[in-house]
Amino acid sequence: MKIAVLPGDGIGTEIVAEAVKVLNALALPLEMETALVGGVAYDAHGHPLPEATLKLAKEADAVLFGAVGDWKYDKLERQFRPEQAILGLRKNLGLFANFRPAICYEQLVGASSLKPELIAGLDILIIRELTGDIYFGQPRGRRIATDGHFPGAEEAFDTMRYSRPEIERIAHVAFQAAQKRNKRVTSVDKNNVLETSQLWKDVMVEVGQQYPDVELDHMLVDNAAMQLVKAPKKFDVLVTGNMFGDILSDEASMLTGSIGMLPSASLNSSNQGLYEPSHGSAPDIAGKGIANPLATILSAAMMLRFSLNQEAAAQRIEAAVQKVLAQGYRTADIYSEGTQRVSTKEMGDAVLKALA
Ligand code: NAI
Ligand code: MG
Repeated sequence: MKIAVLPGDGIGTEIVAEAVKVLNALALPLEMETALVGGVAYDAHGHPLPEATLKLAKEADAVLFGAVGDWKYDKLERQFRPEQAILGLRKNLGLFANFRPAICYEQLVGASSLKPELIAGLDILIIRELTGDIYFGQPRGRRIATDGHFPGAEEAFDTMRYSRPEIERIAHVAFQAAQKRNKRVTSVDKNNVLETSQLWKDVMVEVGQQYPDVELDHMLVDNAAMQLVKAPKKFDVLVTGNMFGDILSDEASMLTGSIGMLPSASLNSSNQGLYEPSHGSAPDIAGKGIANPLATILSAAMMLRFSLNQEAAAQRIEAAVQKVLAQGYRTADIYSEGTQRVSTKEMGDAVLKALA
């Protein structure tokens, strides 16, 4: 089982080191190879996603990714910016299904500023389509308007597009994920105004007929945004398009107390995947040894589950994370009175010890 390890920038190297430590302790035949990605790759090779890094990622069964980006690259031309690395990996590996669980760990409910009854026991899975929609649809551009409200004025346009097969494959992913959970899918769209959303809904209904054991319902995206804040526990699996999923998954992450706890997975049709924490490179705390490595460690657990077919090892890691939280270990981002503040490395060590 080959893993491409791409730590990237900022806290990326610190948190990925802890996840690698945990993976190494599992006594599995894992072959890990590290490469540069993001700003550090640009500094060394003049490109955020060097050929060699892409080749390694393509050949691997899975990619364990830290984070990319730093303010110091803000002035670079778009194609050289660190974030292009992640877009390039998604595109080249065909990673169309993005899994973002939002779980509120029991031990962290008290540390959140949100009402306990709202978030205690929260465990939802957002599945976002990742390669279609208005972010990639052509044509797009700028031109002088010949119609509309202001003919003759400069205008910009993007195109929201979804094809039937694109929707079908993400629908299957969602229904199959629901079968392994509580057998409920909420499909989110805006079918009262958008043609793409009408097709999205039609295809969800059709594919849903192949999964009679899964209950499917539909929600408009504006209502879904409200319900996520009002009664998030009503959701189980939420499936939606690229743009709505971008926004709703960030909204949902805020229900869990800390971005430092949230893993993510992006998969293609052969279950090859890229696994990364939901947060970024946190340049404000990089190099201080205080970043929370748990999102990355939990991403490694998702990697074992989805791409490496090692469910037992995945559960071992997840149980170890629960255990260290129960033992009271906290990095600064999840610290509350009466718990024990630890560094990035100490948190990794605690997970390692809890694995046994
Ligand atoms: P961020 O997620 O890096 O940081 C937001 C806040 O959360 C910061 O205060 C940071 O200190 C804190 N934080 C994040 N992860 C943490 C952790 N593991 N432990 C403790 N605290 C943590 O988002 P921000 O500041 O908007 O972006 C910083 C850089 O990261 C930018 O260059 C951005 O483009 C990049 N980024 C990269 C992503 C990726 O690699 N997939 C995703 C999001 C942002
Ligand atoms: Mg986002």
